[in-house]
Amino acid sequence: MAKATIVNYVPFIREFLKDCFGSGPVRLSRLCARDVVRFVQRRAPRLHLKTAKLLTTALRSFLRYGRYRGDIRLDLAAAVPLVANWSVRTSDVAREAASALRQLFRDKNIVLDMKLPDDEPAAVVDRDRLFQVIINLLSNAVKFSPRDTGRVTLTVGADAVGVRLSVADNGPGIAPQHRDAIFERFRQVGDTLTAKPEGSGLGLAISRMIIEHFGGRAWVEDAFGGGAVFHVWLPREPAAASAA
Ligand SMILES: Nc1ncnc2c1ncn2[C@@H]1O[C@H](COP(=O)(O)OP(=O)(O)OP(=O)(O)O)[C@@H](O)[C@H]1O
Ligand SMILES: [Mg+2]
Repeated sequence: MAKATIVNYVPFIREFLKDCFGSGPVRLSRLCARDVVRFVQRRAPRLHLKTAKLLTTALRSFLRYGRYRGDIRLDLAAAVPLVANWSVRTSDVAREAASALRQLFRDKNIVLDMKLPDDEPAAVVDRDRLFQVIINLLSNAVKFSPRDTGRVTLTVGADAVGVRLSVADNGPGIAPQHRDAIFERFRQVGDTLTAKPEGSGLGLAISRMIIEHFGGRAWVEDAFGGGAVFHVWLPREPAAASAA
């Protein structure tokens, strides 16, 4: 390996070892896949994509070398997550999710309005996980909107530090006292005397977990004119110049 390459890698490895072992002795044999994944998932979203890739490459090289020397017995290099698709245009994913659910909207004769910007900064998030979140919000909106008169609006917009995606519907909305509960696992709220729409009550809990994992927020408000509006906010990719 070229010396310049090693010099680039060292700060990441030092940080990784400090993260795993603190100021105590470094015991490579004790490392496990969870340490590797946790470190990358916590550290990478705050870096510019290029730097995040450098971090994962450094970590893979180090872990492979450790295994070659016999200090590490597991193939931990394989546990280093891919960050290549963490730079995501939210509107693109929103368009894909909407198109995947087209039939669901048709079946209930519900209109989907999309308000997507022509251009927007990339958000730092795993593309597939964001897709999953949008699918859940849109399918909830369909599930709780009235047949034939339902109207769902999907909006994406950016602010100085992040990108926001909102899904509004004209269903029953969510009473203020239930707005925290619906993000908990297995929680479904509403009139228990009427038939409940099916589902496991996991969608929102998982969605919030994913979004918070990438340093974002997920919450719900009253939609203009009744109904619920779910918001997801994600940090945007730092400008290359400020990459740390
Ligand atoms: N758009 C909405 N309008 C009104 N209530 C909603 C809406 N979205 C979610 N809720 C409420 O929040 C609860 C939890 O939603 P969540 O997506 O977590 O679970 P689910 O849709 O019931 O099941 P799953 O998503 O696991 O199939 C719902 O059961 C419902 O009571
Ligand atoms: Mg759901």
